Amino acid sequence: MAAEQERQPQPIGVIGTGYVGLVTAAGFAELGSEVWCIDIDAAKIARLQRGEVPIWEPGLEELLAKHSGRLHFSTDLSDALEHCRLLFVAVGTPPTYSGDADLSAVHAVVDAIPASERHALVMKSTVPSGTGAAIQRVLGEQGKQGLRYVSCPEFLKEGSAVHDFLHPDRVVVGDNGDWAGDAVVELYAPLQAPLVRTDIASAEMVKLASNAFLATKISFINEIANVCEGTGADVVEVARGMGLDERIGSKFLQAGIGFGGSCFPKDVDALKQLAGNSGYHFQLLTAVIEVNELQKRRVISKLHKHLGGLVGKRITLLGLAFKPNTDDMREASSLVLSARLNADGAIVSAYDPVAEAQARQLVSGLRFADSAMDAIGEADAVVLVTEWPEFMELNWDKVAQAMSGKLVIDGRNALDSGAVRAAGLVYEGVGRS
Ligand code: UDX
Repeated sequence: MAAEQERQPQPIGVIGTGYVGLVTAAGFAELGSEVWCIDIDAAKIARLQRGEVPIWEPGLEELLAKHSGRLHFSTDLSDALEHCRLLFVAVGTPPTYSGDADLSAVHAVVDAIPASERHALVMKSTVPSGTGAAIQRVLGEQGKQGLRYVSCPEFLKEGSAVHDFLHPDRVVVGDNGDWAGDAVVELYAPLQAPLVRTDIASAEMVKLASNAFLATKISFINEIANVCEGTGADVVEVARGMGLDERIGSKFLQAGIGFGGSCFPKDVDALKQLAGNSGYHFQLLTAVIEVNELQKRRVISKLHKHLGGLVGKRITLLGLAFKPNTDDMREASSLVLSARLNADGAIVSAYDPVAEAQARQLVSGLRFADSAMDAIGEADAVVLVTEWPEFMELNWDKVAQAMSGKLVIDGRNALDSGAVRAAGLVYEGVGRS
């Protein structure tokens, strides 16, 4: 890589080795930086030092292995401070009971950083707009005003995180116009992505507003789907017709059984809460959240419609993760579904190609099958929860033979409805005619 040698990108520290931290570390290593990854979880660091990757993310393990010579893992922050000026913060900011983001991990990092004229905190974690200003106030109170602060939100999607890091739609850098912002811009320069260089509060808001907008798009199309079910229109056709309007765009118009994951539910809540804290009632987001919660439960009423009571009925869930290509179960629709089915007395089997281990920690009362066909045997109804590619390949004649009943609910409008029906099964999608 001649360009890489010319540029000699500077070393960076990454604090927090979750999805965002590890992908950021691997991505910047790919761009030529030495990277010091710091985490307080000693067991996790030990695994990473052995070359084990604690999360399932396509391409990540390979990229970390490719650059193992440039990647250093430690529990000691001073290792990063010694070698790097830029310290990317990628710790968790989960929701609290009030809906505000829990910033305790972020503040622990702020407290742990010593006074310095040569270091900068680069915030990758999603934080409410105003956090940068608050942190800079704290740094001032702690006599650490020499530390620079940059907001650099991450927009990667789980399942395609490595690709998203290396091919971003845009890079957003919010800073005070000092060396640290320049240095972050320079690190991203090889990606040749459109740059939005702005103030810190605006950069923070770009992230929250983007996620809230995408979540709104999903709840909107889900409501259109629900109306389609009453009118005989097909939401897939409606979305196709809408999406060709460039002002609308075709992405994020797939109706289904609701959005989940570590970001959308949390960020929509956090933005609603942030607005509320400053005296503004964000009505639209309240509806976005409510529509999503109801959407997860609509499968239950569809099952009731076809099967009557669910006591003793065998229901198969195909997929458990909140979306394909991830083992992440956070806020997955399957969590609500499996709990509701249990409460209604159904006998539930489930199969997910990679999320079983995560799911076992969160759900009880269901049988984990070894394969899709194993889960489907004797089922009264099959529900597609996560559109893993292998479920698209199912032989529906074999499925029909294995099932006791005939009902297939396609929670993601991803199956070939013609093939399902041709096997003599009853197909029900979301908002399909
Ligand atoms: C999201 C954002 O896309 C990303 O920019 C941000 O950094 C983190 O949050 P992610 O949570 O990985 O990424 O998942 P994404 O692919 O956006 O999907 C989120 C949820 O929305 C999934 O449950 C998915 O099934 C659902 N979804 C998505 C729909 O129901 N319909 C759609 O059309 C698109």
